Amino acid sequence: MELNASARPFGRRRLLQFAYSAAVAGVIAPSGIFPARAGDHPRHALTAGAGRVRLVGTDYPETTVWAFDGQVPGPEIRVQQGDRLSVAVTNNLAEETTVHWHGVRVPNAMDGVPYLTQRPIGVGETFTYEFEVPDAGTYWYHPHQRSFEQVGRGLYGPLIIEEPEPIRVDRDVTWVLDDWRLLEDASISDDFGNMMDLSHNGRVGNTMTVNGQVLDAFPVRAGERIRLRLINAANARIFGLDFRDHHPMVVAIDGQPVEPHEPDGDRIVLAPAMRIDLVIDMAGTPGSRAPVVDDFYQDLAYRVVDLAYANEAPLRDHPLDAPIRLESNPLPEPVLSEAVRHEVVFTGGMMGMMSGAMMGGRMMDMRSMMRQGMAWAINGVVAGGHVMDPIFTLERGRTCIIAMANDTAWHHPMHLHGHSFRVLSRNGEPTRYRVWQDTVLLAPRERVEIAFVADNPGDWMFHCHILEHQAAGMMSVIRVA
Ligand code: C2O
Ligand code: CU
Repeated sequence: MELNASARPFGRRRLLQFAYSAAVAGVIAPSGIFPARAGDHPRHALTAGAGRVRLVGTDYPETTVWAFDGQVPGPEIRVQQGDRLSVAVTNNLAEETTVHWHGVRVPNAMDGVPYLTQRPIGVGETFTYEFEVPDAGTYWYHPHQRSFEQVGRGLYGPLIIEEPEPIRVDRDVTWVLDDWRLLEDASISDDFGNMMDLSHNGRVGNTMTVNGQVLDAFPVRAGERIRLRLINAANARIFGLDFRDHHPMVVAIDGQPVEPHEPDGDRIVLAPAMRIDLVIDMAGTPGSRAPVVDDFYQDLAYRVVDLAYANEAPLRDHPLDAPIRLESNPLPEPVLSEAVRHEVVFTGGMMGMMSGAMMGGRMMDMRSMMRQGMAWAINGVVAGGHVMDPIFTLERGRTCIIAMANDTAWHHPMHLHGHSFRVLSRNGEPTRYRVWQDTVLLAPRERVEIAFVADNPGDWMFHCHILEHQAAGMMSVIRVA
């Protein structure tokens, strides 16, 4: 029996009760790989395959996952800004795969999009990705082949690109957030790609993990300053984290530095694929506990984890007096006065009143679409795979403004490959920080304008990162030529 699909999203409480003891130990240290360095050329290897991990504590059996190097999340790859990174990916799955370096401005051939930028990595094959990392920040990697199932079963990992001179903190911590749809025996429910998930809000799970474990407490010390790198690796769940008595400062979004600021409404909203870097001064008292709560979905608030203060004396009396503003990355600044403008409209999904869309070159009504597992369209076209005609072609070096309109009843985190863009406006209102992002969340009916310089030649995916929406047609290609 399934714990729940969407009806009972927080049945996870029951799992949590039994998971405390196991979860406290050993979760925090990210599993860095320390590669042999050949000059500025760190070489890594990753193997995708089945593995068994303990997601929910010792009172439950291990969970069979698909994972990089048998661990969830996969190994944290850490390199320096400007390094040339090389990763040999071996496929020990029973199906083809690829790896996409989410948010990194890679050359097109290294982007990991099946058939569009490479032949998928066959069973038993190895493919080596090699590219320079131009921007410092928090990124992640995941397959782009049947990602709704491959990522959903645990294939993902953090990629941290360090600044030459990082800001001063006491600890640099990564939290990869995910949620899983588990059965009573902690196995993964295998109802991937069902029509309900495809046409509503995606595969929202019932068990939330931090770095691959249901977590009760995250040990902290009073007075310390932590840089917390949050990565949302979930298929569909949007997190809205409230740190309660703490005042985290947002210092980067999707890897890109932003003017340090307190989050709007004191809530960190993290849609699938997004990253947010926080700087948090641990201002609580020794021995105390402070909950971190996720209350994104109305009436479904739950506790993610407690910040658990050690009984030690505070590390310092006053918060560290050191700057937290990060150096900007070398992104080309959009020239709005010379920009070409394109409109992009999203339609479909339940309660969206879409009558039909173009599919495989012909007009299809919504009912026939759904019979083929399709539910969404971008500019009236349903994507049946990664290879398709571009929705538009951009002249290389030119600034592009994309005006997006979400004509659906659902949230969509829209991701553009190969570029970072500035978010200019929401519903016609200029944004406060014109933040650089690679994934921008649109609320139902929302309109968002973004701008970027199309400086990276190739065919680039532009798609929804709710992986069920992507699989059900919410994908397009933008060509830079
Ligand atoms: Cu994170 Cu096209 O993906
Ligand atoms: Cu979507």
